[in-house]
Amino acid sequence: MRIGLLTSGGDAPGMNACIRAVVRYAIYKDIEVIGYERGYSGIINDTFKPMERRSVSDILHRGGTIIKTARCEEFMTIEGRELAANKLKKEKIDALIVIGGDGSITGANLLFIEHGIKTIGIPATIDNDLAYTDYSIGFDTAVNTVVSAINNLRDTMTSHDRVCIVEVMGRRCGDIALYSGIAGGAEAILIPEKTYSIPDICNNINNNYDRGKTSDIIVLAEGCMSAQQLSVSIKNIIPNLPIRCTVLGYLQRGGSPSFNDRSLAAQFAVRAVDLVLEGQGGRTVGISSNAIMDMEMSKALQMCKQVNEKLYSVAKILCL
Ligand code: F6P
Repeated sequence: MRIGLLTSGGDAPGMNACIRAVVRYAIYKDIEVIGYERGYSGIINDTFKPMERRSVSDILHRGGTIIKTARCEEFMTIEGRELAANKLKKEKIDALIVIGGDGSITGANLLFIEHGIKTIGIPATIDNDLAYTDYSIGFDTAVNTVVSAINNLRDTMTSHDRVCIVEVMGRRCGDIALYSGIAGGAEAILIPEKTYSIPDICNNINNNYDRGKTSDIIVLAEGCMSAQQLSVSIKNIIPNLPIRCTVLGYLQRGGSPSFNDRSLAAQFAVRAVDLVLEGQGGRTVGISSNAIMDMEMSKALQMCKQVNEKLYSVAKILCL
C-alpha cells in the first residue's frame, strides 16, 4: 500500500508530531508514505518525496511542518482538483492523508466526492474552528503562548497602571481568546460569536479603578475588530485612559507543541492510518468527549461551530 501525506493551510504547532506519527505508524503497518510539499500544490507540481523513519527524526518537538504548507489557489478550481486526482492516480497513491484546517479538509472532501480519491482528514489549526471536533492540533499550544504573553504583559501594565488590549488570532472563531482569557485572568474577553458592549467594558474598567485596580487586560479575538479600533472606541468614552495594544499575530502559530498537541497528533495519526487500512475514504478524525472518533467529511464540514457556553458564562463572571 502507498499513501500520500500533506499539510495544508496555516501551519499549527503539532503538525510535525503528526507527520512523524503517521510515517512511523504507517511504516510499522508496511505502508509506504509519500510526503507532498506545500500542501495540494505538491501534488499538482509533482514535488514529493518518500518518507522514511529517518525523514521524521528530531521533529516531534518542533513547530511548523517539515513538508511545508501553502494555500493552493489552483486546487480551489475544478480543473486543479482534476489535475491533482490524475497525478495521484499516476503515482498509484491508494489514499491521501491531509493535515490542516477547514479549507484543507474541504479540499480533501472534494477530491473524494469528485474523483473517488480516498482522503482522510486530520484537524490541525490554532483557530479550533472545526465544529465536529472538540480540539484541533495546535490550539492548545497557541493558547499557552497567549497565556504566557498575557503574564508578561500583566507585569509591565501593572507597573505602569495601564490597560492592555491583547489581540489574538482565530479568524471568525473566539476560542483562542476565550480559553486564554480565562487562563490569563483577563478583565474582558471579546469574541465574535457574542455581542459585546464597549460602554460595559469601560464601566468595568472604571469600577476596577474605584476598587484600586489600576491595570486591566482585555483579550480581543481578531474576528471582532482590530486592537487599534477597540482602543479608539474605549478612548472615546474614557479619554485619559492609558491604554496600549499588543497584536500577538504569528507568534501564536509557532513554537514547540505542548504535551496535549503531541498526544492528540499521535492519536489522530494512528486513527487516520487505521482508516486507510480499512479502505475508508472521505472521513476525518477528531476528538469528542475525550474519545478519538472519525466522521464523514461532508457531515463534519456542515456542522456549525458553537461557543462553549458554560465556559463563556464562567468567563463573564470571572472578568467582573
Ligand atoms: O487559520 C489560522 C490563522 O492563523 C488565523 O488565525 C489567521 O487569521 C490566519 O490564519 C492568517 O493567515 P495567513 O497565514 O494567510 O496570514
